[in-house]
Amino acid sequence: MVTVVVATGNPGKLAELKAYLQALDWTLALKPEEIEVEETGKTFLENARLKASEVAIATRHWAIADDSGLSVMALGGAPGVYSARYGTSDADRINRVLHELGDETDRRAEFVCAIALARPDGTIAAETEGRCPGVILTAGQGAGGFGYDPIFYVQTQGKTFAEMSNAEKETYSHRGIAFDQLMPKLKTMNLV
Ligand code: IMP
Repeated sequence: MVTVVVATGNPGKLAELKAYLQALDWTLALKPEEIEVEETGKTFLENARLKASEVAIATRHWAIADDSGLSVMALGGAPGVYSARYGTSDADRINRVLHELGDETDRRAEFVCAIALARPDGTIAAETEGRCPGVILTAGQGAGGFGYDPIFYVQTQGKTFAEMSNAEKETYSHRGIAFDQLMPKLKTMNLV
């Protein structure tokens, strides 16, 4: 079985990726702590490529990385690649987005998830970007999920990410969509 290093130091993300990738004959491993990759990309895809590539080169294994975040149209795409760094807590980040949007009537937004798979030499073998459109509410709704979930309302489902069950979020989220797009390709690849 081939070992694929997940370019994250977060065991929660490893568990989440394991669930999405369970149909594949891969052994997933957590990135060694000493390998740190600076997320200097201007897009989610650039950051995913960067993380996968650098971790692959450092470990000499295949590596998979994802990068995700929220993009609000009326804020010119912010918080975008700065989603995790937009405040010091989830509440803080949500308040900042709500404050910056104020009473703007155009509340369109999207969650984006980019995924990249790198070969042991650092070259990219597969990549994709999943998008989930929604609108930003004026106040949070629902208690599930994490991050910006309570203010992100998916009109086709009539609920926020924070009101969805895990199974619903897996299906409709940017991450679920990205993995759905990538899986057919990953299934045809023979990693050695
Ligand atoms: P990362 O890709 O794990 O670095 O996530 C970037 C940031 O985007 C997270 O810290 C969250 O603030 C936000 N984010 C990404 N995906 C989601 C989601 O599904 N729900 C809510 N917030 C998210």
